[in-house]
Amino acid sequence: MKTAILIGFMGAGKTTVGRLLAEMLAVPLTDTDKMIIRKTGQTPGEIFAAEGEPAFRALEHDVLQEVINNEGIIATGGGIIETPGNIQLLSEANVPVFYLSGSFGQTMERLADDDTRPILRSKTLMEVAALWRNRLPKYDAAASHVIATDNKTAVEVATEIRELL
Ligand code: S3P
Repeated sequence: MKTAILIGFMGAGKTTVGRLLAEMLAVPLTDTDKMIIRKTGQTPGEIFAAEGEPAFRALEHDVLQEVINNEGIIATGGGIIETPGNIQLLSEANVPVFYLSGSFGQTMERLADDDTRPILRSKTLMEVAALWRNRLPKYDAAASHVIATDNKTAVEVATEIRELL
């Protein structure tokens, strides 16, 4: 069975591309945020608000460890690389890890009017830009492949990944 892990910033298209890729390949899709919701009954926003980011990162790490060898496509949350142990798990995974990499501008356009993401809710644009700069090398460190996404549709990105599998 074909397997792949998708990483990248919020708004990179991981969930949409993951769903398309899973459909194209007829394999299961695992989404780490959805697994956290299923396990806790709370959304990432609710966990951030009630227990703080470290509690969310601990849950996210446990979920990644649990699913990393799952068959099919694994879509991760944008902050998965904030936990050093996750960078190690991803970079050593026996599965290709695709970093969906777009420009800051196009990524922010996709996130316009989003009020579901706790990380965005609490930050100014300057702070999100700083977070972006801080995260880029971490995505690079975790990825085995970098896929440029600017000016491409989700179908084009999914097709490009499928051809690499
Ligand atoms: C986060 C990204 C979210 C979710 C949580 C934290 C982040 O996932 O895991 O809100 O720190 O970038 P998406 O990348 O799917 O939005």
